[in-house]
Amino acid sequence: MFVNCSVQTGSNDMTLSLSRRAFCAGLAGAAFARPAAAQGGETLTAGVSSVQLAPPGYGQTEVWSYDGTLPGPVLRARQGARMTRRLVNALEVPTSVHWHGIRIDNAMDGVAGLTQAPVLPGDTFDYDFALPDAGTYWYHAHTNSMEQVARGLSGALIVDEPAPPDVDRDEVLLLDDWLLDPETGLFFDDFSNPMMRSHAGRMGNLLGVNGQYAMRLRAQQNERLRLRLINAANARIFVLRLQGMAGWQVALDGMPLAEPEPVTTEIVLAPAQRVDLIVDVTATEGEPAGLLHYADDDSWQALVETEVTGRGASRSREAPTALPPNPMMEVPDVTAAETREMRMEGGAMRGMASGRFEGEQLGFRELVQRGQFWALAGQVDLGEAPFARYDRDEPARIALVNDTVFPHAMHLHGMHFRTIGADGATGPMRDTVLVMPEERVEIAFRAHNPGKWLLHCHMLGHAASGMTNWIEVA
Ligand code: C2O
Ligand code: CU
Repeated sequence: MFVNCSVQTGSNDMTLSLSRRAFCAGLAGAAFARPAAAQGGETLTAGVSSVQLAPPGYGQTEVWSYDGTLPGPVLRARQGARMTRRLVNALEVPTSVHWHGIRIDNAMDGVAGLTQAPVLPGDTFDYDFALPDAGTYWYHAHTNSMEQVARGLSGALIVDEPAPPDVDRDEVLLLDDWLLDPETGLFFDDFSNPMMRSHAGRMGNLLGVNGQYAMRLRAQQNERLRLRLINAANARIFVLRLQGMAGWQVALDGMPLAEPEPVTTEIVLAPAQRVDLIVDVTATEGEPAGLLHYADDDSWQALVETEVTGRGASRSREAPTALPPNPMMEVPDVTAAETREMRMEGGAMRGMASGRFEGEQLGFRELVQRGQFWALAGQVDLGEAPFARYDRDEPARIALVNDTVFPHAMHLHGMHFRTIGADGATGPMRDTVLVMPEERVEIAFRAHNPGKWLLHCHMLGHAASGMTNWIEVA
């Protein structure tokens, strides 16, 4: 069932009906940002908890979360340090944690069924890995992630530069959407809804940041903030604008840009992508400031509101310099490399996919009966053989060809890549790239990290119904 902004409740209660409008518009509430969650201890517990997710007038919502908070605690460490967490599974279902964007040891990548066995209820798993790169990353469940991430199992993972840039404050902003029943404020619990999986994915009807539908920051005029935006939504592509702030993009998917790029247009953030901004507050006291998003009803709505009080400095500063580059990340010359084509097929309105599934070649009717709607390179879900095998350090080049009518956010585990344009020009280093309908996007990387790595769509309902493949680096 799809829920949209015109849900009628028949309620005469003003508070509730106002609140219900917030489900679509993100109305300002009175709540101020909770202080950033403290860094977790040595454990990270996945469990059931209740949080105030829906607007005032609703009760608490039962979520699945890490350490009882939504999102999970901000995990933070210095570049070059190790991250060590014992996952405790207090859920009634198996789970595992993926550390999205980290150039990690394959055994720590958290992909149940490929890099580890799922962690059973009551069991634990010790994650212990190096953090070679500074930047903005995140962690999330990677066992039935379509449901587990939608229920709240995600959080930010921040790796600090040895010498962080000069800003007044560093704010982690984890963007998400939740699909709640406007009658009850509880999740609609059909997490594997086939309509959503075969279309654009599970879109929430309540949008928010750091677990709050109306998140507020405080700032002063001319203050300089580092904003670390993370799109943790299952399927929503956020289109964002700054209001009352001027700034630069300084990193994408954790990786510093060679030069800060002034923000002059909308920022498009696909599921799983991150952007680091350095912004100066230009608004004066009382003027609107914050982050706007392009809402489903074609209007710009506040996603983060900043209350500007007073002046931090008499004028704003010089433009920021680039963040220091991360080590060993250069993309090799791939002109001589073979281009392997990964065609994305299937979904509603394109006759669905056919392809290899569980060892058999199946037509789309059989696949649909099994809840599979998509294929990558003719393969539906993980096959026995990888899409490609690379020698260690081999230059790799993959063409992602979108033969569907939906956009897909394609994510490679374990290594970052650059896009290569038709003219050979390379794009920024990323781990997730948005591929629009009919588009062909070529990515290139050095296959330097040994192991089995997923390459999948991060619209998680798509990934769960066919859009998941893998590569192997010897
Ligand atoms: Cu963030 Cu395989 O995922
Ligand atoms: Cu997709």
